[in-house]
Parts: sequence; structure tokens; C-alpha cells
Amino acid sequence: MPTKNRSTLTQFLIEERRKHPDASGDLNALILNVAMACKAIAKAVALGDLGDVLGDHVAGGGAGQSASVNVQGETQKKLDVLSNELFMRMNEWSGHLAGMASEEMELPIDIPAGFPRGKYLLVFDPLDGSSNIDVNVTVGSIFGVLRRPGAVDASDGPPTIADYLQPGSAQVAAGYALYGPTTMLVLSVGTGVFGFTLDPNLGEFMLTHPNIRVPEQTQEFAINASNSRFWEAPVRRYVDECLAGKTGPRGKDFNMRWIASMVAEAHRIMMRGGVFMYPRDTKDPTKAGRLRLMYEANPIGFLIEQAGGRASTGEFPMLGIQPRELHQRIGLVFGSKAEVERIEEYHRNPAAVKNNSPLFAARSLFLSDAP
Ligand code: AHG
Ligand code: MN
Ligand code: MN
Repeated sequence: MPTKNRSTLTQFLIEERRKHPDASGDLNALILNVAMACKAIAKAVALGDLGDVLGDHVAGGGAGQSASVNVQGETQKKLDVLSNELFMRMNEWSGHLAGMASEEMELPIDIPAGFPRGKYLLVFDPLDGSSNIDVNVTVGSIFGVLRRPGAVDASDGPPTIADYLQPGSAQVAAGYALYGPTTMLVLSVGTGVFGFTLDPNLGEFMLTHPNIRVPEQTQEFAINASNSRFWEAPVRRYVDECLAGKTGPRGKDFNMRWIASMVAEAHRIMMRGGVFMYPRDTKDPTKAGRLRLMYEANPIGFLIEQAGGRASTGEFPMLGIQPRELHQRIGLVFGSKAEVERIEEYHRNPAAVKNNSPLFAARSLFLSDAP
């Protein structure tokens, strides 16, 4: 098939950098290493069972042993562990990173002896949507880049955990890779959002989606409705009003989607709008939400806002949240700006919820006896 004259990721990054003559090029090199890790993960994902990469990861691989569990208390899939290894190996050597933090590692990852340290910190979820691996549904990787705080010298020791605990607004770049029908890399270095599709013949990411903008108008929402009995009142109100459709307060019908790969939902929302919610709920009072602030909510929040959408905890702008812990969980709501603002308004004004929502009580479609 004829190909258009498209930029490669490398060309795009070099041209972006030319706009900043003072830039060292370290960030570009770092992003290219992340892209390399994503290409290697895409290969492994695409082989599936042929590559012996499906199923749970068993430490030591011994028969009769149970699957390994990460710091989140979640069973690790083989591909979680492999993707984490690939991210570490492709990024540790470059001299651009002072350290890394991963969903799969309790503590930050030091740069191994023999390699220089640089000025950036890389945070990542090596494989998002693990529950979808074994059923051949789109998964992805998510990453954010932060500057190591303070003066940075190659002789400095490893960064502390506190160095990583920066709000999402401090990210200098963020992106995600999607391992779906095509492999894509969607990236922002703070100048908008750009999508690249992997050309499998060239092994290169090609710019296919310049200047992605989250569409403003939407009639689609995504939430795991099996948690509806645990939702807080503002979330229930929002969903009820969507479900009420044309004859309800929103005056239009909504569609619902749930892929269970947040990264794939983020991409759908980038392409055709909508809202994603994994809100704080009452399911487990020890957890502020399901998703993790540092390497899920913040990078996706950065991208969504760069594309003109909005990312929030439901109450507060996501990118302003000061993290307390590396693996902190948080309620996450993102997507088309007006929808997210509406949900924030419902949180700000809970007293109005019952009065304003005719569907809230007896006729609530998901739950009728809400507190
Ligand atoms: P991970 O695979 O990195 O642990 O993240 C999975 C997340 C997210 O991608 C998705 O939206 C959510 O978990 C799905 O949760 P449910 O199983 O509650 O649907
Ligand atoms: Mn994840
Ligand atoms: Mn993951």
C-alpha cells in the first residue's frame, strides 16, 4: 500500500527540539528508549501464547509454586514482569535518568553501577490492563517523565522517594503505548499531543495523529458499573442522568463502554470524546481509589489536559495533587472538559444532588436506596 510522507518519531522529536535551541537532547533520547521498550513489549504481546508469555508469573518458574504478587497485592502476569524488565533494561544505561519507579517495584529502581545518572526520573506502568492479556484485548504501557529536583551532578547519589513525589503538573513529558489492532505511541512533551503508529515493516513509529484534541461533545461514558453499590452520591447522580437519556435531565442518550484497560479507554476518549471514571468509592476504605496517582492518573491526566480535556480526582484537578506515596491510589475522572466539570460540580454541591436528580432515589437505575 502506498505510504504518505510521514515523519518518524525521531524526526518529530528532532524538529520539536530545534524550536528550543538550548535543549540538550536528553529528553529526546530518553523518549526514544521508552519507545524501544514499547516496541519490544508490542512484539511479545503480539506473539501471545506462541511466545509463552500468557498466564501468571511464577517466581522461579517452578511447578506447584503460586503466582508472584506485586506491592499492590495483585497477581503478576508473565507479561507484567517481562514488560517491567524491558522498561528497566532499555532505559537504565542511557545516562539520562537518575532513577525509575514502576508499578511492579515496591521501591524506586536505582541506575545500576557502571552507568551514569542523569537529570530525569521515569515513572511507569509497564503493562496496563493486565486482566485483558489472556483474552487478547488491547493493553498498553503508561509513562511520565519528571526532573530530579535540586542541582544534578553525575556524582550525586540515587534519588530519594521524596524526589519522585511531584505533582502531575511537574511532568515534562508523558505518554502511552497501545498494543491493540495497531501498536501506537501517544506522546506529549508539553506542546500538545501527538500519536504515532508503529509501521511493522520499518519498525518505526510514524506520525499519524498530529495535534490530538479531545472532542468537546460526547455521549459516551466509561465506568465499572459492578461497583455501583459503592459509588458516592455525585457519581451516582451523574451516571443516573446519563442513563436517563433523552427524556432525562441531560436530554440526550448516552452509550457506555468498559474495556478494563484504562489506557485503551484514554485512547478512545482522545479519538472520539467521552468520560472515564474510576472514582473513589466505599468498597475498601483503605484505598482512595483503584488507579495509581504517579504512573497512571498523572501521565494520562497530563495527556488529556494537553489535548484540551480535563483530568480530576472528581473533586480537584488531578495535576495539582501533591503525592504522599509512590504507589498512592486515587479516584480518577477524565475526558471531555464539560463532562468532568459537571462531575466536579456534583461533588462540590452534594446537597443539591438529591433535589436536582429526579432519578436519584426510588427510580435510580443502579441503586435505589442510596444514603
Ligand atoms: P493494571 O493492569 O496496571 O493493574 O491496571 C488495570 C486497571 C485499569 O487499566 C483498568 O481501568 C482497571 O484496572 C480495571 O479495573 P476493574 O477490574 O475493576 O474493571
Ligand atoms: Mn495499570
Ligand atoms: Mn500494570
